[in-house]
Amino acid sequence: MSDIVLTARNLTRHYEVPRGMLRKPATLKALDGVSFTLERGKTLAVVGESGCGKSTLARLLTMIELPSSGSLNIAGEEVTGGASKEVLQKLRPKVQIVFQNPYGSLNPRHRIGFALEEPLLINTKLSAAERRDKAQAMVESVGLRPEHYDRYPHMFSGGQRQRIAIARALMLDPDVLVLDEPVSALDVSIQAQVLNLLASIQDKHKLAYLFISHDLSVVRHIADEVIVMYLGRAVEQAARAEIFANARHPYTRALLSATPVPDPSFRKERIVLKGELPSPLNPPTGCAFNPRCPRVFDRCMTQRPELLPAGKAMIACHAVELDQEKQVA
Ligand SMILES: Nc1ncnc2c1ncn2[C@@H]1O[C@H](COP(=O)(O)OP(=O)(O)OP(=O)(O)O)[C@@H](O)[C@H]1O
Ligand SMILES: [Mg+2]
Repeated sequence: MSDIVLTARNLTRHYEVPRGMLRKPATLKALDGVSFTLERGKTLAVVGESGCGKSTLARLLTMIELPSSGSLNIAGEEVTGGASKEVLQKLRPKVQIVFQNPYGSLNPRHRIGFALEEPLLINTKLSAAERRDKAQAMVESVGLRPEHYDRYPHMFSGGQRQRIAIARALMLDPDVLVLDEPVSALDVSIQAQVLNLLASIQDKHKLAYLFISHDLSVVRHIADEVIVMYLGRAVEQAARAEIFANARHPYTRALLSATPVPDPSFRKERIVLKGELPSPLNPPTGCAFNPRCPRVFDRCMTQRPELLPAGKAMIACHAVELDQEKQVA
């Protein structure tokens, strides 16, 4: 059996945004061509500033929305290209999501036990007793106690609620968990506990994770591979060690320079990014990063860089391309 459980090729998601009565709607490219594979037991982290398209990607993978173009293959079956309703229904449980804010995903009027049983009620033919057994076992496997089963969401702390959201995501035995900033709303001490829980669950069920975060110090602990996104596109994509030891895209380097490092003997450059993330409705021509880039030169103003192999990474940057050419020469 292949270890690849999900393949995304050139996924895009464009939104038509109205601009008033007399003007044509504008096209917002929330996601503009991202490709990767997810492997059983491995974690792909997606990082980038607010608005770069991370949650849009999460919505495509979980089939909350369909992509505008590109292809998505889950467990060997195509989601894109006119898959039948039956195929979509069969694939949907395989990719589950955990959101940043578990308040939003848990109905305050439902007991935890019902929240966990509900996916089974909708998607399986299990009996009431079987549903209850499975949900109770899940309560314990995420580190909660049996008596929690009959309680309501407001009776839990943020960390406990996130455990419940994780338990609910696991009820249908998915292959992939999409974790959209799963620990960003939690205290640092609780963050570590939830990350440890996620690591042990991944080990036990051999799950593939797509872990979305803006916090590189969290990503450093959990990722196998990293995609750095900027305005809907991947700018650098590589194994974790490569990103943290040898990042070459100026944007990745700037993100890393703003991340605390545990080793005090390690002196690093401090790169402060100029300006704000440009509007995705009106992105700069050429390289979208050009107004903020410390290595900008004329080609960056007119030509959009492609994501190309550069050493052990894939990088979209004209300056890095030049570095590569010099190395070869
Ligand atoms: N339904 C929609 N209609 C129009 N624009 C949208 C829609 N959903 C998202 N966008 C836009 O797409 C871009 C990407 O949004 P997205 O939520 O994916 O960003 P993000 O990386 O998850 O940000 P954050 O870190 O703040 O969660 C943003 O500019 C957002 O305003
Ligand atoms: Mg988001």
